[in-house]
Amino acid sequence: KYKVGFIGWRGMVGSVLLNRMKEENDFEKIDPFFFTTSQIGKKGPYLKNGKISILYDAYDIDFLKELHIIITCQGAEYTKCVYKKLKKINWQGFWIDSSSLLRTDSNSIIILDPINYDSIVKGLNQGIKTFVGGNCTVSLMLLALGGLFQHNLIEWISVSTYQAISGAGSQQLKELLLQMEYFVNIFQKQKNKSILELESLISKACNNKNFPKNFLKFPLVNNLLPWIDSIQKNGQSKEEWKGMFETNKILNSVQNIPIDGTCVRISSLRCHSQSFTIKLKKDISINNIKLLIKHNNPWVRIISNTPQETMNFLNPISVSGTLNIPIGRIRKLNFGSLYCSAFTVGDQLLWGASEPLRRMLNILIS
Ligand code: HSE
Repeated sequence: KYKVGFIGWRGMVGSVLLNRMKEENDFEKIDPFFFTTSQIGKKGPYLKNGKISILYDAYDIDFLKELHIIITCQGAEYTKCVYKKLKKINWQGFWIDSSSLLRTDSNSIIILDPINYDSIVKGLNQGIKTFVGGNCTVSLMLLALGGLFQHNLIEWISVSTYQAISGAGSQQLKELLLQMEYFVNIFQKQKNKSILELESLISKACNNKNFPKNFLKFPLVNNLLPWIDSIQKNGQSKEEWKGMFETNKILNSVQNIPIDGTCVRISSLRCHSQSFTIKLKKDISINNIKLLIKHNNPWVRIISNTPQETMNFLNPISVSGTLNIPIGRIRKLNFGSLYCSAFTVGDQLLWGASEPLRRMLNILIS
């Protein structure tokens, strides 16, 4: 059995990964070792087979180098420190990473096997050892529009995202809930006021000294934040830059497909939504577009362009905790027959982060 090390398994992405691995009985196929940066010697997670391991030091290079595969959801700082040390001593194991640090490395493959299985296998045959999960919006877009990419039908995409707070981290998610609680408390004490007085009270309460915003920095309830991550030289946010770079790296594009737009943080908890304007290379009918999308992978679901179907199935609440990738609002736009719109939703923690890592592990051990 392969010796597989897990780092950052207690965080949000890591916990979702472990749950999926338990569901799919993946732990029975490997010899797992759990690491910690702060609780060496304490008990590891409970696995279905009843075994509880102890936690090892996540910085113990002599121990790590004995592993065949390392899966880290610990974040970029950890990767920065440990990956280099292991490479320096010529460690020959496989590194599977959820952080973005190594995505730009020419010796890494961004993993999304329903879309780029062939590139992954080719990379393995060429001796690639570093496999990195993609940015969540990129992976979710590729699963939704996979059929159109596969048939080389996309000339460019303009995208607007509606990104859940889980993508910013667990402390931020908790703080969003605290912000909700803060508003509810005000509302409960002053329910008898007029609706405009209530609106004004709530809106002004965001400026109170004790309004919770240590991690979010700004209110997210009753608000949205049209900037995610750092600023790039051309005025894009880093999140917006990733859209085009990572998509084309995953697709191994000969000619880069232009993708751009505005990434926005909203107050949904764990599902990212995205609205696309697509310029097609060929004038194909909406029915054919739907067929190509539908047959690309088993997770994508076509939602009819009706109010009822859209409201029922094309929203964060109905997708949360599932691997479904609904795509709807598919129609031709007033700009001409080469232009169509689509809207998709996906779970940021499942397909957006942990599932590609779990599936990569299975490719390696199969
Ligand atoms: N960067 C993403 C976000 C999450 O902030 O929502 C990780 O891909």
